[in-house]
Amino acid sequence: MIQLIDNRTAVVCVSHVEYGGGQRYDLLKMADVAHDHDALLVVDATQSAGAVPIDTSACGVDVLVSGGYKWLCGPFGAAVMYLAPHLQNKLDPGLVGFRSHKDMWDLQADRLEFPTTAQRFEYSTMAYGCAIGLARSIEYLVDVGVARIFSYNKHLANLLIEGLEERNVEIISPRNDAEQTSIVAARFPGKDPAEVARKLKAAQVMVSWRKDFVRFSPHLYNQPADIQQALDRIEEIL
Ligand SMILES: Cc1ncc(COP(=O)(O)O)c(C=O)c1O
Repeated sequence: MIQLIDNRTAVVCVSHVEYGGGQRYDLLKMADVAHDHDALLVVDATQSAGAVPIDTSACGVDVLVSGGYKWLCGPFGAAVMYLAPHLQNKLDPGLVGFRSHKDMWDLQADRLEFPTTAQRFEYSTMAYGCAIGLARSIEYLVDVGVARIFSYNKHLANLLIEGLEERNVEIISPRNDAEQTSIVAARFPGKDPAEVARKLKAAQVMVSWRKDFVRFSPHLYNQPADIQQALDRIEEIL
């Protein structure tokens, strides 16, 4: 991806963590290359926020967005966006509405002045109830500590990987420290992944079937006993 960035690049848009195999990218490295070419780095953190620590100012991202219903454990209907301070007065929102105006209640419809913060992107009323639910989830996760969650989840992932490998299941997620997350994607030789996922679900082990693999996503609410339960069911399936 870095090799594709050149002087014709305006925006580099990348997932922090890949939805399939869980590969985690070095955002600072991406940001440096993007900025060397006057491009912006826009990051989708839907598969990392809440499970992987993110220091937006240290990693040089310009924009970061995340859905709330995955690792942030929030309800459907709310999401978050971070806009780097240097862009807050500079980027024009593509969508505007009555809340786009900095003094929206002056109700003057003959001109539009944006707020000088990321609020300029909040152009409409929204699902406030969902936003409150998401805020509570974020508070909870921050209270537990995202760095702790990251390391705990990787511990669970490693228990799972160990057990899968003992059963000759092929792991396709990265294993090195720089790229690993708790997403574990696995291929079951000779087995239909949809069928494996269906049987696991019937046994209360929630996994996702994606392409030719099965994806496991252990998070802070899981225990080592859950991993063992998954491995026992897999043993039966195999
Ligand atoms: C990286 C990533 N971004 C976005 C989404 C979906 O976001 P939304 O449901 O808000 O469209 C997903 C869902 O799997 C995802 O993995």
